[in-house]
This record gives sequence, C-alpha cells and structure tokens, in this order.
Amino acid sequence: MTVGGLDVEAVRKDFPILAREVHGVPLVYLDSANSAQKPQVVIDAEADLYANHYANVARAVHTLGSEVTNAYEGARDKVAAFLNAPSRDEVIFTRNITEALNLLAYSFSNASTFPGAEGLALGPGDEIVVTEMEHHSNIVPWQQLAQRTGATFRWIPVDTDGPNAGRLQDAMIDEVITERTKIVAFAYVSNALGTVNPVKRIVERARSVGAVTILDAAQAAPHLPLDVQDLGVDFLAFTGHKVYGPTGVGVLWGRYDLLAALPPFLGGGEMIETVSMEGSTFAAPPHRFEAGTPMIAQAVALGTAIDWLTELGLDRVREYEHEITGYALERLQAVPGLTVIGPADNVDRGATISFTIDGVHPHDVAQLLDEYGIAVRAGHHCARPVCVRYGIPATTRASFGVYTTTDEIDQLVVGLSKVAEMFAR
Ligand code: ALA
Repeated sequence: MTVGGLDVEAVRKDFPILAREVHGVPLVYLDSANSAQKPQVVIDAEADLYANHYANVARAVHTLGSEVTNAYEGARDKVAAFLNAPSRDEVIFTRNITEALNLLAYSFSNASTFPGAEGLALGPGDEIVVTEMEHHSNIVPWQQLAQRTGATFRWIPVDTDGPNAGRLQDAMIDEVITERTKIVAFAYVSNALGTVNPVKRIVERARSVGAVTILDAAQAAPHLPLDVQDLGVDFLAFTGHKVYGPTGVGVLWGRYDLLAALPPFLGGGEMIETVSMEGSTFAAPPHRFEAGTPMIAQAVALGTAIDWLTELGLDRVREYEHEITGYALERLQAVPGLTVIGPADNVDRGATISFTIDGVHPHDVAQLLDEYGIAVRAGHHCARPVCVRYGIPATTRASFGVYTTTDEIDQLVVGLSKVAEMFAR
C-alpha cells in the first residue's frame, strides 16, 4: 500500500523483527506507542560505534576520543534540525522523557537559591497546570514540585461524552490557566486516548499570563513534523525509543535564555566551569544539564533514527498514519460491543486507538490477541487519571507506526471479533 508517497512494504523491509513469527503466525506489532521497533540502520549504528569508534566523549584527546565526540555532538545537531531549534546548545540528552521532565522540575525547585534564576522560582500562591490526560511522567514530577515549593497543582479536565469526548474542555483552558499560573505542562498527543491537543491555543493562553510552557512530545515526535519555533513552546521533550531509535536516550529542548538561567539538576563531571573545595560554578547549556558519562552510543544511534525518519518524510508519515487510523476507526465498528475510548472521529487524532469490549477485561483481550500473533497493550497506559475520568480501570490499545498495514488492521478486527464472540457465549 502506498499513500502519499510512503511505500509501507518497502519500509517494512528495514525492520528485521517484522519477519518473525509469534505462536506460529506472523507477528502483527500494534504496540508502537509503547515502544517502536528498530530499523536495521539503527541497530547497525549502535554496533558500529562500539565496534569501530568507541571511547568516552569530551574527555579524551586521542583519535577515538575525537571520533566519538564528533559523533555524539553530531547527533545533537541532528536533533536540533529535527526540532527546528534555533541553537544546538538548546538540546540536552537525557535518559528518557521521564528524566527530561524530572530534570526540569528539579531545576525549577532549585531556582530560588540560584543567582539569576529567582524569577523562575515557585512558591505558595503559584500554580502548576497539566491536563487530565497526561502520562504519569507529566503529572508526578509536577505534583512533587508543588509539594516541595508550596505551589498548587491544577489540571484542565477532559470530556468523556458527546462530540468532544476524549478532548480537553476548551473553556477550562482559560479558567484553569490564570495570572497565578507559572508552569503549563501538557502532551501534544495523548498516549492513552490518541487525542492531538490544541498546542497553539494552550501556548497562547499560557503566554498571556506569563507562564512557561512544557510540551511532552513523546507521542508526537514519531508521527508528525515538530517545529519548536512555530509551536511557540518554551520546552519540549521526546524519547528515542518511540522514534525508532534506541532505549536509554531522550531529549529535552529548551529556550536558551531559560536554560542559561536555570540551575543544574545533577552535579558531577563535565557539567562544571570550575570546581574548588570552596564551591563550584557551572558550564553553559547544554553541558550544565549533562553530568557524567552520557548515553553515547544511544545518542549516536538516535541521530541515525532521525536521519532515517527524516528521509521517510514526517509529512508523508503523518498522511499515511492518518489514512490507516481512519481505516481502523471505521473497521473497528464491526466488532461487537467495542467502544473507542478517546476521539471516535479521525480529526486531530494520532495513530493510537484505545477501546473496551463489553464483558471482557482489557488484559484478557490483549492476551487472547497475542495467541493470534497480535501485540497490543492493555492497562491504564501510565495515564490512570484519565481512565478514572472515564470510569474504567483499563483499556486495550492498538497503536500504529510507519510499518503498520491495513492488512494488519484487518487481522486485529478479526481477532477482536473472535474474542468478543468467545465471551458472548
Ligand atoms: N510507554 C508508554 C505507553 O505505552 C508511554 O504509552
């Protein structure tokens, strides 16, 4: 199938794992929102670094040291281009998105005692705003920051019924973000519902009250072009393993003036300007926020994944995935007792579809699908509050990537129909 110039059969050949079988049948991998599979070039990039160029970065003056440093810093350039960031010095490598968001939360907590950062400090009377559909990694660090500083934690609620089901309550954006708001942290695309949130609408409101915006782009980065200048956010984070790159590496991008004002999170080697027994001063960003030996091979292979995805074309990827998501939403209607949890139409929607089936526990659905070789995720998807809002403990979730075919979606529908039939008896 070729849609908008994306030849999915050719793309699939890049992924060795897609040739394997599970329980004697070909694997149907519909769990890319959890973690995406890796093209051969990414697997090769990591192995090549260890086999031919490995040493530590930044510390060694020998040949391998400069080769590996160039490769690591080259990956930073690739990330900056991927995000259309004004400067490569705004790109910080982290372990994953959870670490990126915690890094920020701890930097904000340390702001009150860091010269020049006092204006970024929070205290009683200040408010931190998230949305009700956030992943736990974009809830817990902000709740903890509120506890440490005495600030108040608030959220924009989600509608669960009617035509706006699965979307933020628009009027509440203006009500919850107020003159007291200091930080607004929210997801571009919900991992649990598939909703694409109105980033510019939220940023405009946050800016009007002088709040800092932090965008969790974990579920956006693999699926659509990102442009931090156009989005207008202050910080953005994404993770490597969801953009067809390795585990163990994520990215925090931030506006340079804010990064240069914020205190470090972790202290240690390579993040300093000078150290004496009397005290230390810190390097400029990005190194201020990269203490210790970083995830070298993973960052380099993330750069390769970005090259690979960029060559595919994020516009093409978006168009292709929009097409197959629409196809899936339509086909899933044929499954008896299936309810989509999230936007039911294909407008402002990512390639992730959560659902329940009457009378069947979501985990049983996932387990039975596995028997047919179909990999999906079941649970609250680390977004428990939005499940609570819907009054359900969990959902089953099918999530698509650049290698997903309509034939695989047909197999999902057949598998789900069998499951529904089995439990109806
Ligand atoms: N890995 C998490 C998910 O499955 C974020 O959505």
